[in-house]
Amino acid sequence: MQSILFVCLGNICRSPLADGIANKIARENDLELYIDSAGTSAFHKGEPPCENSQKVAQKYGIDISALKSRPIVPKDLEEFDIVVTMDEQNKKDLLSYGFKKVYKLGEFGGLGNADIPDPYYYKGFKGFELVYEMIEKGVKDLLDKVENAKLDKK
Ligand code: 4NP
Repeated sequence: MQSILFVCLGNICRSPLADGIANKIARENDLELYIDSAGTSAFHKGEPPCENSQKVAQKYGIDISALKSRPIVPKDLEEFDIVVTMDEQNKKDLLSYGFKKVYKLGEFGGLGNADIPDPYYYKGFKGFELVYEMIEKGVKDLLDKVENAKLDKK
């Protein structure tokens, strides 16, 4: 079974959405994938996804309320076939921790290599809607490429 780890800074806003969306697509399409998410920081360790991420996921029929934030750990280096970050800083951080091959979600889904902006400090819900749409585009294309073996593994 192939495995994918989504990474952002806090693992409470963006990567839990990517995790939930990827799990839903995998379930609906009978894809054999192990999916998880983590943060480059431990700021929110043990916390569920932020309220607005839960809310926007719910709107699209995805329940991410049971996820718990965790920081990346050295074991992730061996454990995951594919590691995908939300922004350039996350990617730099992982490379500096010794990860060899790290993708950024913005490389997929026609996102033009854009960073998925951190919605944590946005005012209101709109930022989360925009971020959800970006993440969904990227994740759909990523999973399509994974399934069709169009991706270099680390
Ligand atoms: P995330 O958002 O990286 O998308 O989970 C953040 C949430 C909280 C913080 C940073 C990013 N924080 O520093 O508290």
